[in-house]
Amino acid sequence: MKTQPVLLIHGGAWAMPDEAIAAHEAGIANALAAGYALLERGASAVDAVEAAVAVMEDDETFDAGRGSFLTQDGRVQMDALLMNGENLRTGGVACVERLRNPIHAARLVLDHSPHVYFVGTGAERFARQHGMALCDNMDLVIPREQERLYKAQAAELAGHSDTTFSGPLDSASHDTVGAVALDTHGNIAAGTSTGGTLNKAPGRVGDSSLIGCGCYADNLSAAVSLTGWGEPIMKLVLGKWAVDRVAAGASPQESAQAAIDYLFARLGGHGGIILLSPDGRIGLAHNTPRMAWGLRTPAGLESGVTRN
Ligand code: GLY
Repeated sequence: MKTQPVLLIHGGAWAMPDEAIAAHEAGIANALAAGYALLERGASAVDAVEAAVAVMEDDETFDAGRGSFLTQDGRVQMDALLMNGENLRTGGVACVERLRNPIHAARLVLDHSPHVYFVGTGAERFARQHGMALCDNMDLVIPREQERLYKAQAAELAGHSDTTFSGPLDSASHDTVGAVALDTHGNIAAGTSTGGTLNKAPGRVGDSSLIGCGCYADNLSAAVSLTGWGEPIMKLVLGKWAVDRVAAGASPQESAQAAIDYLFARLGGHGGIILLSPDGRIGLAHNTPRMAWGLRTPAGLESGVTRN
């Protein structure tokens, strides 16, 4: 018997201003359409997650692919992970600077390498050897982000502390993208892609592409993707923490809320989470003022930007 497919995605959790909502909603709708069309045709959950994430990487609205936040030295440096819950095959890349779609490189690692994770120029070389074109880093840099970096660094010079990591929520921005899917064969998958945090030190890697931190999938528990302030999420290995609770009997919604509560109670972290179990139940929670997300099932489409 065929399983009813499910696709749940997020486009970041942060203090999104009103004027950014329409672009986020449009980007979420496009990503859902691309990923769900594949699921309806019987494609794998991995295919659907990869397609949905790639659409958001291509959309400058989000902190992934072109339009990502910039490092201290004005470059785009991206991380992505893709994981197949059927067999735990996983592909990750970090600190890549010349790939338009890091999630496609993660897919190549998942499909073609005995290794799980590549960084920097080694990741780019692997991607190129497997057919991906390399771009110039400046092709990924957009004026909006140059302006944002300029303001962040001017504030730093003026003696204001860097609010990206520790400031009030209305100044922190975490626009990482991610997806979890259940396919008609009953398998789940997860993917997460990010440009990281604004004004990050070159070489810094966040939670998104670290297995069990910002992303995880196992048919025996659940698929998860996180967004938010990466360092606390990494310290708590929060993705695995959340799916383990589903395996232990919590519902995905209970587990999602518990993970975000734990993130804040233990380390004062901010972020959002999506969860999907192999029986099609979902969970979604965030402690940021807003989170962009979308859900597509045979019953229809639900999406929006939720407020806390
Ligand atoms: N969650 C994205 C990052 O911290 O890099």
